[in-house]
Amino acid sequence: MQTANITLDQNYRIGDIDPRVYGSFVEHMGRCVYGGIFEPGHATADNQGFRQDVLDLVRELAVPIVRYPGGNFVSGYNWEDGVGPREERPTRLDLAWKSTETNAMGTNEFAEWAKLANAEVMLAVNLGTGSIDSVRNLVEYCNHPSGSYYSDLRVSHGVPEPHKFKTWCLGNEMDGRWQIGHKTADEYGRLACQTAIAMKWVDPSIELAACGSSHPKMPTYPEWEATVLDHTYEYVDYITLHRYYAKTPVRSAMQGATTETESGDVLGTFLAQSLDMDEYIQSVIATCDYVRARKRAKKHLMLSFDEWNVWYHAQEKDKKVEPWQFAPPIAEEPYTLEDALVVGCLLITMLRHADRLKMACMAQLVNVLAPISTATGGGAWRQTIYYPYMHASRFGRGTALNVQIDSPSYADPTFDAVPLLEAVATLDEEREEATVFAVNRAQDGPLVLEGDLRGLPPGYRVIEHLVLEHPDSMAKNTLDAPNTVTPHANGDAHMEDGRLTGTLPRLSWNVIRLAKRSE
Ligand code: AHR
Repeated sequence: MQTANITLDQNYRIGDIDPRVYGSFVEHMGRCVYGGIFEPGHATADNQGFRQDVLDLVRELAVPIVRYPGGNFVSGYNWEDGVGPREERPTRLDLAWKSTETNAMGTNEFAEWAKLANAEVMLAVNLGTGSIDSVRNLVEYCNHPSGSYYSDLRVSHGVPEPHKFKTWCLGNEMDGRWQIGHKTADEYGRLACQTAIAMKWVDPSIELAACGSSHPKMPTYPEWEATVLDHTYEYVDYITLHRYYAKTPVRSAMQGATTETESGDVLGTFLAQSLDMDEYIQSVIATCDYVRARKRAKKHLMLSFDEWNVWYHAQEKDKKVEPWQFAPPIAEEPYTLEDALVVGCLLITMLRHADRLKMACMAQLVNVLAPISTATGGGAWRQTIYYPYMHASRFGRGTALNVQIDSPSYADPTFDAVPLLEAVATLDEEREEATVFAVNRAQDGPLVLEGDLRGLPPGYRVIEHLVLEHPDSMAKNTLDAPNTVTPHANGDAHMEDGRLTGTLPRLSWNVIRLAKRSE
C-alpha cells in the first residue's frame, strides 16, 4: 500500500475562507428555474410556486450565495420584463438557449426564494444588449429605499423594503462570440467601467465583479483580463473566472501535431483537472497583480470563480433539443463518482487560494449541471457531486491551512506528475473544529494517510471520517435509485499524540473532521 504524508499547523495559514466561495448559480436555462426551483402545482410547491423538496435540499447544502439570472441568458435579458403583475409580463424568445421565456419568475420572486434558501443573491446585469441606463435603473429598483421612480415602482410591485443586494456581476462571458452583444476587451472594459461608476453612484455599498475570460483556452486570454482591468481596476472588486471540465480522450503531442488518442489514462487525466484550475487561478492572480503594479495601486483585486463544474455527459443530447420550447431539459448531467471526485479536487484547489479567491459558484444548482435533480411533477434527488459540495460548504469554514503534502504521484501526458493525494485543511476557531478534505486519485488501491497534526491547538481528536466511494467509478444516482452513491461514516482515521493515520479507499473523497469536543 502506498502512503502519503501531510503536515498541518494552525500557524500555516493561507487565508480566511469567505463563505461565498461555496456559492451556486441559478440561470434561466433548461429546467433550472421552471421545473427546478419553481413549479406551481407541484405537490410540494408553496403558495409562491417554490418546490419545498428542492428548497430542503438547497438548505442542506448551506449555499451562502446564488448568482442569478444568468449566464448567457442575462446578456439578452430585460429585467423589467420580470417584475410587476405576472399577467402583464411578456413572453420572449431567449436567444441564448433558444427557449421560450415566460418571465413568470423574475428578480423579486428570486429574492423571495433566496431568503427561503438562506442565501444571498449575486445579481448579474445585462451588458450584452443592456446599457448603463438599464443597469443603474435596476440598482435603483433593487436597492434604493423609496422616493424615486424605480424604487417606487418596486414598492408598487408589493416589495416595500429594498433588497439591498450587495454583490453584482458586470455582464457574463463578454469575450465569447456566442454571447449576445459580444464585445472586444476595450469595448467591454469601457462599458463595464462606466456602468460600475453609475451603479456605485446609486448605491456605494455594492461590490462589483468584472468579466474575465470565459475560460483560459480563449485566444484572448489573458490579454482580456489585463485590458479589462486597465479600464476597471479602480471601480471593481473582483474579476471572474469560468471553467467546466470534461473527461475526454487524452491529447498528446506527436511529431509536432496534436492528436487525440483513446489510449492512455483518460480517467487519470480527468482526475488531474484541478491542476489546470490551479494554474488558471495562479495566472489570473498574476495578471491582476501586473495591472496593480502598472497602476501603482494599493488595492489587491480578488477573484470570483462564478462558474465551475464538470460538463460533458449531455452535450451530444443537447444538440438535438428543438428550439423555442419552454424549459426543455438542457445540460442535465448524470454525474458519476468520478465526477464527484473531480468536483472534490476542484473545491480543494479553490480553498488553497482562499487568500485571493473570495467567491465561487458551482454552476448550476438544480437540473442544469447540477448537484440537485428533479423530475417535473415528481421527486428530487442528490447527484454524486452534491456530497463534496455539501461537505465543503458545511465543514470547510474558518481559515484555510497550508497543508504540506508529500504524496506518491503518477505520470500523465498533460500534467506530468499528478499526486495521488489532493488535500487541504480548514480550521474553524469559533467552532473549535478542523477538517481535512482529501481525494485519493489512485485507481488501483487505497492510500494510507499519515499526518503530523501536532501544530493544531491541543485537544483536537477525530470525530468523524466520511467517505464517498463506490466499486464502480461510473456509478450515479437516479430518481429510482437515489442512494447508489452516498457517503458513509466508516472511515478509519484516528489520531494519537497529534499523529493522524487513516486509509483513503481507492478513488474516494474523504472528510476527516476533528474537534475539541466529542460527538
Ligand atoms: O452555466 C451554463 C453556461 O455556461 C452559462 O450560461 C454561460 O455563462 C457558460 O458558458
